[in-house]
Amino acid sequence: MANNRGLAYMGPGVVEIQNIDFPKLIGPGGRKCDHGVILKLVTTNICGSDQHMVRGRTTAPKGIILGHEITGEVIEAGRDVEYIKVGDIVSVPFNVACGRCRNCKEGNTGICLNVNTVPGGAYGYVGMGGWIGGQAEYVMVPYADFNLLKFPDKEQAMEKIMDLTLLSDILPTGYDGAVNAGVKPGMTVYIAGAGPVGLACAVSCQLLGAACVIVGDLNPERLAQAKSFGCEPLDVSMDATLAEQIDNILGIPEVDCAVDCVGFEGHGHGHDAKKEAPAEMLNDLMNVTRAGGHLGIPGLYVPEDPGAKDENAKLGILGLRIGVGWSKSQHLHMGQAPVMRYHRQLMQAILHEKIQPAKAVNVTLISLEEAPQGYKDFDKGVSKKFVIDPHGSVKKPKVKEEATLEPHHN
Ligand SMILES: NC(=O)c1ccc[n+]([C@@H]2O[C@H](COP(=O)([O-])OP(=O)(O)OC[C@H]3O[C@@H](n4cnc5c(N)ncnc54)[C@H](O)[C@@H]3O)[C@@H](O)[C@H]2O)c1
Ligand SMILES: [Zn+2]
Ligand SMILES: [Zn+2]
Repeated sequence: MANNRGLAYMGPGVVEIQNIDFPKLIGPGGRKCDHGVILKLVTTNICGSDQHMVRGRTTAPKGIILGHEITGEVIEAGRDVEYIKVGDIVSVPFNVACGRCRNCKEGNTGICLNVNTVPGGAYGYVGMGGWIGGQAEYVMVPYADFNLLKFPDKEQAMEKIMDLTLLSDILPTGYDGAVNAGVKPGMTVYIAGAGPVGLACAVSCQLLGAACVIVGDLNPERLAQAKSFGCEPLDVSMDATLAEQIDNILGIPEVDCAVDCVGFEGHGHGHDAKKEAPAEMLNDLMNVTRAGGHLGIPGLYVPEDPGAKDENAKLGILGLRIGVGWSKSQHLHMGQAPVMRYHRQLMQAILHEKIQPAKAVNVTLISLEEAPQGYKDFDKGVSKKFVIDPHGSVKKPKVKEEATLEPHHN
């Protein structure tokens, strides 16, 4: 039954809208999902993680329906769903998690053991279990009682939807990066990457009370965005070393902790900023982080990178100077963010106006028809977080204009 539409990856640089089947309560391989729901999408966001696939840098097959950042309204609930009801507006953690395995029980929903052939599942993503993506009009979400975060009030949710839509991934992911870096009140942080994840991480560091949040990138527009909400921008394409630039800002050449919000397509620093050098970026993070400091690494690394330039990188092997981190007794923490660990608290922070992540990441609402162009613009590095509104159900809030026209409330 082709009465659904979704965005399909059709080869490097090509994303197109396709007619697809209306979802059923059946998962990959025919798995029964009576514990699942069908959602009518309210919003679904384009992510830097999608770009890795769309740039042809993964083994993603042609035809895969994209989309793991999902917010929707429940229109059908399976027989075994007890507490989520038709009509609820819910945020879907991008991790598909069963709630029944050892890892889920320990709160590590990013590495669920039952939703993929290897630990960890996600919607619309290569190697993540074959769950159909949500950049579509309708999508199926399994284990609904466990996975879904219900917004307490529908009207309030629709008013704050531009912020709440970030709860499915980048806000908890940025927050997880900050938590793994050990950010606490009064600490100094260096965040590599001023894309949406880096900016969401910066908001999280501010929420956690960091004294100074330095955000590095080579994209001037994105650095300006970081500066707009109180971060210290750092241009990694400058000739000065990262340590020298940090010294200029803090008066010492090191930070208490660091977060990699870039991943395996990261560039080098200085002269190397024009080329890909993810190991150099990670080595620099170890260099500038104090002895005993922690590094959060939400930036994505793949076990296979067919688009890599050298043979090692094709197998995900990078030239890390692990001895630098070892001699400084640093902690490194990487992997999918367990969204569920943080999304409720971050929802409350949004509803009580403690944080304004949509403004920080420059949420920009687009239609499903505009999404293929959105992918192209995001790939060029515009400083926007594209949020798709497949049914035209969101009032256009124009985050940027509101921010400049309206007086501050506090
Ligand atoms: N761990 C998780 O659960 C999780 C969840 C979501 C996203 N991610 C990953 O987080 C990363 C960031 O996502 P995004 O949406 O912000 O992507 P993005 O591609 O929009 O942003 C990455 C930014 O890093 C910048 N950059 C490149 N080299 C750099 C360097 N050496 N120093 C500083 N900045 C540099 C780029 O210019 C770009 O602005 C991606 O790898 C994405 O896959 C991980
Ligand atoms: Zn994402
Ligand atoms: Zn599980």
